[in-house]
Amino acid sequence: MQIIQRLDEFREWSRQNRTVQRALVPTMGALHEGHLSLCDRAREEVGAGGHVVATVFVNPTQFGPNEDLDAYPRQLEEDAKACEKRGVDVLFAPNPADMYFPDASVEIHENVLSTGLCGASRPGHFTGVCTVVAKLFNLAQPDVAVFGEKDFQQLAVIRRMVRDLNFPVQIVGGNTVRESDGLAMSSRNLYLTDAERTQAPVIYRSLCEVRDGIADGPVKSPQDAIAMLEAKIGSAAPAKIDYLQCVHPETLEPLNEFGEGGYRLIVAVFFGKPRLIDNLGPV
Ligand code: PAJ
Repeated sequence: MQIIQRLDEFREWSRQNRTVQRALVPTMGALHEGHLSLCDRAREEVGAGGHVVATVFVNPTQFGPNEDLDAYPRQLEEDAKACEKRGVDVLFAPNPADMYFPDASVEIHENVLSTGLCGASRPGHFTGVCTVVAKLFNLAQPDVAVFGEKDFQQLAVIRRMVRDLNFPVQIVGGNTVRESDGLAMSSRNLYLTDAERTQAPVIYRSLCEVRDGIADGPVKSPQDAIAMLEAKIGSAAPAKIDYLQCVHPETLEPLNEFGEGGYRLIVAVFFGKPRLIDNLGPV
């Protein structure tokens, strides 16, 4: 596996390998099984003869002023080992000073899907995400890019950006990888106290129960679904619900009734300090 940090070197690699199918997996590092499963998915997309490129870049522009940019875990050596083991061909890990000009004045705003859910409590976050992902697409020139369904709103926003700006990239969503008790893997899980960690699986358990209730009939409306989720998740002492919605899976609009287009239950819950997110759709 090649590790590339310089932008010009990465561009040169991209140019020289233009004829080989290329899949990109953008990350901010501190890689866990969730991230690595996206590398496997990327490999499936391009096959043994293709190139899987992972990126590790803690993107400053998607962190709000009160968020944990400085505290965000940085462990490039371990990440590189994990990527190599997983068959990644190139790991691109640029320096922030090289990625952004000090007087950068162009950014990408997505104006509809970004406004609710996580966007409501993290103003500017999805502008930072769209801008850095567009830059990574331009640098890496991938045929395919893989993003996790764990960050469901992010996946929807990126699909919309690619659609509306005609990026020549196919976006693939990877399944959420969970701990054995159902908690979605996240670097933020490390910040849970033991007591919080014990209770955190209530999030996924409640999502599953409500999903089953919708499928089996007793949960008749999105309003019922939300009320049931609120009661179940809210019963865990450390849980403070940030949002909890039942939305259309593409438009992310809150649903008034269940219909043909499906649904997505989507939640963000403060569990002590960390804010955990998760989501689930029909089986
Ligand atoms: P990061 O939080 O590092 O996540 C990188 C990718 O891993 C995202 O696509 C995310 O959805 C996926 N992921 C995280 N936890 C997962 C899990 N448990 N199962 C499956 N996939 C999981 O998301 C970002 O970085 C950034 O916003 C980025 C897109 C890299 C732009 O800076």
